[in-house]
Amino acid sequence: MILEWLQSVTTPAPRHVRSLGLVHEAIAIEARYKRCHRAWASHLLNSRNQILATTSEMETRGQVIVLGSGGLHDVPLEALSETFTSVALWDVVHTRRVRSIAAGFANVSCQTLDVTGLCEAFDGWLRGHRDFPPEPSVPMNLPTGSPDLVISLNLLSQLPVQMVARATAKGRAGELGDFADTVMRRHVDWLKALHCRVLLITDIERRYAKAGVVQVEDAVPELDCGRPLADWLWEVAPPGESTDYDTIHHKVGAFLLNE
Ligand SMILES: C[S@@+](CC[C@H](N)C(=O)[O-])C[C@H]1O[C@@H](n2cnc3c(N)ncnc32)[C@H](O)[C@@H]1O
Repeated sequence: MILEWLQSVTTPAPRHVRSLGLVHEAIAIEARYKRCHRAWASHLLNSRNQILATTSEMETRGQVIVLGSGGLHDVPLEALSETFTSVALWDVVHTRRVRSIAAGFANVSCQTLDVTGLCEAFDGWLRGHRDFPPEPSVPMNLPTGSPDLVISLNLLSQLPVQMVARATAKGRAGELGDFADTVMRRHVDWLKALHCRVLLITDIERRYAKAGVVQVEDAVPELDCGRPLADWLWEVAPPGESTDYDTIHHKVGAFLLNE
C-alpha cells in the first residue's frame, strides 16, 4: 500500500490526469498484474503474437505507434525496436519503470498524451470551470506524423472509465448521457481515418460468473470493424480476485483496420 502510494506521488503527470485517477489506476494495474500474471499470461501472449503476426507481413517498417502501452506487458518491445526505425509508446501515464525500460532502446520514445483529447476539459467540468462535459470528437491535434502501423492495445474500453468513475463519485454521472460509448466510437473513427495499417486489440465482451450463473455484457458499443482476426478469453479476475464474482473473463478481439 505504502509502495503504491509512493509510486503514485513520484509518477510525473499533469494535475487533471492525476485528479481523474489515471495515475492511481496505472499503479493499480501493475499491482493486479503482479497478483494475476499467471491467469493473464495467455491473453498477454495472444496480444503480443497478434502484433508480431501483423508486423511480419509488413514491407515498410518505419514508425510504429503503440496506444495504451501502459505497463508494456502486452508489447513485444524488443521485436518492435528491432523491426521498426522508431517505436512511439503513447499513454496518458508512463510509470518510472516503463520510462526506464524504454530508455534501454535507442529508437523507443514515451509520449505522454491523452488520445481522447478530453481529459483536461472533463476535469474542468468536474471542477465547475465549464457548464457541460466536453463533447467527444475525433481528436485533431495528436502528433501522429506518418506511421506505418498504429496499434490500439487493450485501450478502447478503458478510455471513458476513469472519467465516468470520477463523475459517478461526484454524483454527476446522470449528466453524461451516452458519453462513454461516444468516446469509444470517436477513437475508432480516428483509427479508421489514419493513412496506415491499424491493429485494434480490445475486449469486446465481459463475462461475470457467480454461483454457476454467467452474466454477459458488451464491453464496447457496436464497432463496425469486421470480423476479428482472432479472439480469445482473458481471465481478468481469477478465483479470489474479485469480491463480487467468482471469476471475470473478457472476450478480446484483434481487428485489422484500413487494409
Ligand atoms: C488496460 S491498460 C492496457 C494494457 C497495457 N498495454 C499493459 O500492458 O499494461 C489501458 C491503458 O490505457 C491508458 N489510457 C487510459 N486512458 C487513456 C487516454 N485517454 N489516453 C492514453 N492512454 C490512456 C492507461 O493509462 C493504461 O495504461
